Amino acid sequence: MKIKSISEHFFEYFVKNESRLEKDYPGIKFNRFIEEYCDYDHSKPSDEFFMENPAFLEKIRLGVPLEYINFKSFFYKEEFYVNSDVLIPRSETEILCEKAIEFINKNYHEDFTVYDIGTGSGVIPLTIAIEIKKPLNISACDISQDALAVANINYDNLFSKINNKTKINFEIRDRLDSFSTKVDLITSNPPYIKEVSDKGGVHHQADSYEPHMALYLKDAEYDEWFDTLFKQVNTSLKEKGLFIMEGHEDHLGNQKELAQKYFNTITVLKDYTQRDRFLLCQNI
Ligand SMILES: C[S@@+](CC[C@H](N)C(=O)[O-])C[C@H]1O[C@@H](n2cnc3c(N)ncnc32)[C@H](O)[C@@H]1O
Repeated sequence: MKIKSISEHFFEYFVKNESRLEKDYPGIKFNRFIEEYCDYDHSKPSDEFFMENPAFLEKIRLGVPLEYINFKSFFYKEEFYVNSDVLIPRSETEILCEKAIEFINKNYHEDFTVYDIGTGSGVIPLTIAIEIKKPLNISACDISQDALAVANINYDNLFSKINNKTKINFEIRDRLDSFSTKVDLITSNPPYIKEVSDKGGVHHQADSYEPHMALYLKDAEYDEWFDTLFKQVNTSLKEKGLFIMEGHEDHLGNQKELAQKYFNTITVLKDYTQRDRFLLCQNI
């Protein structure tokens, strides 16, 4: 009997389970599937197949996100460690990073300070720190101690790519509560899905496996939560400082109005799918 390679064996599995895989892993291609398996199993696609790894296929059967199976996710130009304590970074957040990098490059000065609210795996501040080759003072907060542990792992892993005079500090904090310094740039990708009324638009895999504290806010507290955020950001930004926030396509219009209480210049930007996705707020 011919012994199959891992690749051949999994191709059969992939074809047989295609519709279920498409539901749990929209758009997944065989190449990605086999790469993830080989990563998990420390094998090569061409290795002759003797025994499949049941733990991997059980996770696939349950629909566990591939990023949580192999504990990694690619964002901007880097690989980040992730686990189920943090949101899996999304590609649209790369646009937020691009805008932040553009602003820093245009307005750079010694002592340039950045604050990231709801940092999760730390992708936003770490991407900024890697891309800006000059020294920066960066701090970032989260209300989850477990998320901050992940951010610190990523800081250690990427340390060698960051200017050695750049300071990065991850801290536990609810938005900007008791924050008393003024900064040049504030970034945030906060939880922005209404727990009840937006739930229908959430992929079941995200709802089942990603931390709810990273995704949802209570419907009744939603506007007040953002009003407090905008008020805190306004008092914490230096003159002409910039606030860039990712938000929900259905709520950014309303949030723009809320933010007008605190900022005189507000722009809404779209993501790659042409949905409203970002607010840029400034007093100029
Ligand atoms: C949508 S995730 C974003 C994670 C990461 N910044 C990214 O873009 O991938 C939101 C993060 O905000 C944190 N968070 C939720 N409520 C918060 C609050 N009141 N203050 C600070 N962080 C909060 C969550 O724990 C989560 O890590």
